[in-house]
Amino acid sequence: MPKFQRIKGTHDILPQDARKWRYVEGVVQEVMQRYNFDEIRTPIFEETALFARGIGQLTDIVSKEMYTFLDRGKKSLTLKPEGTAPVIRAFIEHSLGEKKPVHKLYYISPMFRQENPQAGRLRQFHQFGAELVGSAAPEADVETIALAVDIYEQLGLKKYTLKINSVGDATCRAPYKERLKDYLRPRLDKLCRSCQERFDKNPLRILDCKEEGCRAETAEAPLIIDHLCEDCHAHFEAVKSLLSRLGIAFEVDHRLVRGLDYYTRTAFEILSGALGAQNALGGGGRYDLLAEELGGKPTPSVGFAAGIERLLMVLEKENLLSDFDSGPDVFIATLGEEARRWAVQTARQLRQRGLRVDYDFLGRSLKAQMKEANRSGARFALIVGENELQARKVVLRNLSSSEQETVAIDSLVGELEARLGKPG
Ligand code: HAM
Repeated sequence: MPKFQRIKGTHDILPQDARKWRYVEGVVQEVMQRYNFDEIRTPIFEETALFARGIGQLTDIVSKEMYTFLDRGKKSLTLKPEGTAPVIRAFIEHSLGEKKPVHKLYYISPMFRQENPQAGRLRQFHQFGAELVGSAAPEADVETIALAVDIYEQLGLKKYTLKINSVGDATCRAPYKERLKDYLRPRLDKLCRSCQERFDKNPLRILDCKEEGCRAETAEAPLIIDHLCEDCHAHFEAVKSLLSRLGIAFEVDHRLVRGLDYYTRTAFEILSGALGAQNALGGGGRYDLLAEELGGKPTPSVGFAAGIERLLMVLEKENLLSDFDSGPDVFIATLGEEARRWAVQTARQLRQRGLRVDYDFLGRSLKAQMKEANRSGARFALIVGENELQARKVVLRNLSSSEQETVAIDSLVGELEARLGKPG
């Protein structure tokens, strides 16, 4: 029989890694709470049209990366490739804007994109993200940037770069696009194939191309920063000045254009040198027109999302994920039938007191059980045989110091709790 294997571009998160995931997710949740962001959970799949409208029909994500399928009712559904459009869909559907003017929402969720898998680029990956919905103020941009930065800081990450740009708004982007196209038109045949396709669809992304040839051709291209309208310019200046006030280091990158169409004004990315080609730890920006695009009222908003796999790669490289291999509090090792039954009962009793307890399921010898107790990383072993049961006593062995003592069964719970530093 052929063995089943996981789908290319997906990962199993095995127990020792799952502990690291839980730690990272715990830090994310804690910092989100400090910033008073509330969790939102949206479904894994949505109507395909939500993403086509929200992210943009011509983006790479929508045009070639979505996992789209027809359900039995012939409705086109898509596994979510990102979290912003679903959050805004939920915001509109539940009329959240009528309950209070500003909503601060966060999520941790798997996302799906059919990309070519490589280090840091998966088909099922996980993001944590935050959306500040309902404010046009530059403070809101800075709130989400500071939030992202503080999550990385809390995890001990020091080496990363924050890049920011403004991509303008409905007023200034259209005329700028025309200027850029005028500049690029005579150079079109020197650009890479992807950029030639981008020329009509999304010429701004040509500035973001990593190909040497394209970079050379666009070296002197007009930049949006020199063509921002007054409001966009003032907004960008305010964001930069607030970031400086917070002591958050940033680089302005006038070529930074993100791969989703909904951005207006601020766009940002957080990059890590410890990642290879896929160096973006996270990214985000303002998307003031998205709510209207999705059928809601005008709702200026800003947010970011960050990849958890990439973050774990960097934390691992920088040795910031040391020891998460903790074992049970107690392993019960037994000799004889009666003692085995006692173990089943005592394990449950101790677990009900909140202790982490395990015992043998294979009928192994006492020696083999002690080996297993050590391998499991347990702090204590309880050693019990028929004689001990008759005397209502057990042997308690500290597995790190190898010290042993005899403890009365009637006071076992209290004795264990005292040694484990747990409240009785
Ligand atoms: P994004 O830049 O497409 O933005 O994704 C954010 C982050 O998700 C990336 O920086 C990267 O760390 C991670 N990521 C993306 N694709 C993959 C992949 N195939 N494999 C592994 N990691 C990946 C968004 O998704 C926007 N929704 C961000 C946002 C929120 N903008 C405003 N609000």
